[in-house]
Amino acid sequence: MHGFSYKSGSLYCEDVDLSSLADEFGTPLYVYSAGTIVDHYKRLDKALDGVEHEVAYAVKANSNLSVLRLLATQGASFDIVSGGELYRVIKAGGDPAHCTFAGVGKTREEIVYALEQGIYSFNVESEEELRYLNQVAGELGVIAPAAVRVNPNVDAKTHKYISTGKSENKFGVDFEAIADLYERAHRDLRNIKLRGLQMHIGSQLTSITPFVEAVEKVIPLVKQLKESYGIEFWSIGGGIGIIYKDSLKSGSVDWWEAQPEEEKPLTIERYGKELVPRLKGLGLKILLEPGRYIVGNAGVLLTKCLYEKKGSAKTFKIVDAGMNDLIRPALYEGHHEIVPLQEPATADRVKVDVVGPICESGDFFCQDRELPDFQPGETIALMSAGAYGFVMASNYNSRPLPAEVLIEESTVTLIRKRQTMEDLIEGEL
Ligand code: LLP
Repeated sequence: MHGFSYKSGSLYCEDVDLSSLADEFGTPLYVYSAGTIVDHYKRLDKALDGVEHEVAYAVKANSNLSVLRLLATQGASFDIVSGGELYRVIKAGGDPAHCTFAGVGKTREEIVYALEQGIYSFNVESEEELRYLNQVAGELGVIAPAAVRVNPNVDAKTHKYISTGKSENKFGVDFEAIADLYERAHRDLRNIKLRGLQMHIGSQLTSITPFVEAVEKVIPLVKQLKESYGIEFWSIGGGIGIIYKDSLKSGSVDWWEAQPEEEKPLTIERYGKELVPRLKGLGLKILLEPGRYIVGNAGVLLTKCLYEKKGSAKTFKIVDAGMNDLIRPALYEGHHEIVPLQEPATADRVKVDVVGPICESGDFFCQDRELPDFQPGETIALMSAGAYGFVMASNYNSRPLPAEVLIEESTVTLIRKRQTMEDLIEGEL
C-alpha cells in the first residue's frame, strides 16, 4: 500500500497533484510520501509484536536527512554501512546507541568514529575484521560491541547482484565456522564484547521460504551462542521484497485482497506470522534491517518526455532522466512501472523503449514495453523509486543531481535542492 493514485484523472501523492510539483520544481524530480514511509515502518513494527524487537532502517536505501528524521521520530533504529551514513543519522537526530554498522570493508577512521559515537554493534564480516576491531578498540581503551554476520548458505532466489547469503558471496562467515570463531574471540579478544549474531540473505525477496529456511537453520546456532557467551540480539537482516510490476495498483487495499491466495505477494503480515512464532522464546532481541520495504513504494521519479524518435526497428521515448538518476534498470534489469501523470483516456498502448539522454545503450527505463502513448512535453512517473534511487544517482555526463521533495498530506517540502552547474565543479582545483 502506498500514497500514489489517480484522482480525477491526475496522479497524486497523498493530497498533492504531481503535475504541480513538476511545474514548481522541474524534472527529473524524486517525490516521497511521508505517510507511506511511516505506515510501512509501523506495519512492520506491529507485525513483530510478540517478540522483543527493533526495526533498524537500512540507511543505504534512502539516506536523505528528512527521511531519516521522519524515521527517527517514529523510534527507528538504523543500520549503517559507512561513517558517512552514521554522520547522516546523527545529523538527522538518530541515536548512535541504536545503530548497527554493517559492511565488509570498514576503515580505521570509520571504526574510530563509530566507537567514539558509541554505536550498538559492529556487524563484522570476517575474523580479520574482528581482530582489527579488537586492536583499534584496545588502542582507544574501549570495548567494542560486535556481532558476526553468519552466511547461512541459503538461496534467496533473487537477482545475482543482490543475493548475499550463499557461500560464493563475499558476505559474512560460513555457518560452519561461526561457533569456533566465537570461541576464539571470547578467549583471545579482550576488547570485544560479543553482543549478537547477524545475517542477511539478500534483497528483494518475494517469497517467505528463504527467510524461514535461513531462520530455522540458524536457530540452533543462536541458542548455543546465547548459552555460551550471553549474546543479547539476533539481527535477521532486511530483504523484504516489494511490488514493482503492478506498483500503482498495489497502492490500494482492494488490489491486495483481489490477488489469488496462492499467488499473493509476500505481505508484511505474512512475514510476521511465519517468523514470530519461530523467534519467540529465544530470549533474544530480534533486529530487522529493512530498507526497500520501508521506502521503495514510497517514492517516484518524475521525468519529462523530450522527444519521440521512430527508428526502423523501435520507437524511443526520450526523457530528461537518465541512468545516472535511476540506475536500477541498467544495473539489475530492475522493472519500474511507468505511468503518465494524466490518466490515459483509452486503453490503447504502443510498444516503446523509454530511454534517457546518457551516451550509453544501457541508458533505458524499459525496453519493448506496451505503454500509453505519452507525448513530448508530458511528464511521466517511474514508480517504486524510493529505495536505491537517488542514493545511487551520480553526476555521470556532468548531469546535476535531481531535487527531492517530501509530501505529507497537502504539505510539500523541498528536502534536497537540485544541483547547479556550480555544484558540479565544487571541490575541483
Ligand atoms: N542489511 C544488509 C546487511 C544489507 O546488505 C542490506 C542491503 C539491507 C540490510 C537492506 O536490504 P533491503 O531490505 O533493502 O532489501 N541496490 C540494490 C539493492 C542492494 C541491497 C544491498 N544490501 C537494488 O537496487 O535492488
